[in-house]
Amino acid sequence: MDVRVVDHPLTQARLSTMRDARTDNAAFRAALQELTLMLIYEATRDAEVAEEPIHTPVARTTGYRLANPPLLVPVLRAGLGMADQAHRLIPEARMGFIGLARDERTLQPTPYMESLPDDLSNVPVFVLDPMLATGGSMVHTIRILTERGAGDVTAICTLAAPEGVDRLERSGLPVRVITASVDERLNESGFIVPGLGDAGDREYGPR
Ligand code: PRP
Repeated sequence: MDVRVVDHPLTQARLSTMRDARTDNAAFRAALQELTLMLIYEATRDAEVAEEPIHTPVARTTGYRLANPPLLVPVLRAGLGMADQAHRLIPEARMGFIGLARDERTLQPTPYMESLPDDLSNVPVFVLDPMLATGGSMVHTIRILTERGAGDVTAICTLAAPEGVDRLERSGLPVRVITASVDERLNESGFIVPGLGDAGDREYGPR
């Protein structure tokens, strides 16, 4: 499985803002949006482009656009904070939605919402979720997508735990990961260490 850690001074600066416990909800959302811009930029680096002739004010030349724009799928709640920024970068993208809440005791994801196109064959999919912790939510999400025919999924996570990366790898699902950091470990409560806490709470306040 391809895991690309976008280790750039600006990604690390935004991630540090998000990690800092003193960062308030508004500043956290702003840093998440800026980091999303950089992760989407990396995620589309190898995207197929279509050529089309264009005229500049001076001459005729070749223009480019994404040949097959991805479906963007934020995983609610926390992924919602990445959705708008991703859509600004790829305005022609369609967007689907999945809502999951992780049970704090069992750490199992409980689905509560799903709104997706029926047929995802030949559609690249970008799943947007700030956190890959145990990997349970991401595996659940990608299974829903593959049941609809998806075969090319990119998990865009600001932060990952090694346990979540391993679980995704062992799942054998067709996924690659783009992240700003693979942290040290999960703690006994299923939080990433050092991590940034609960991304949903830090964006929107506690449930
Ligand atoms: C968090 C996070 C991921 C999930 C990661 O969401 O945004 O979706 O947990 O954990 P996992 O890899 O162990 O499954 P949460 O369920 O807390 O919901 P929220 O986004 O509504 O806060």
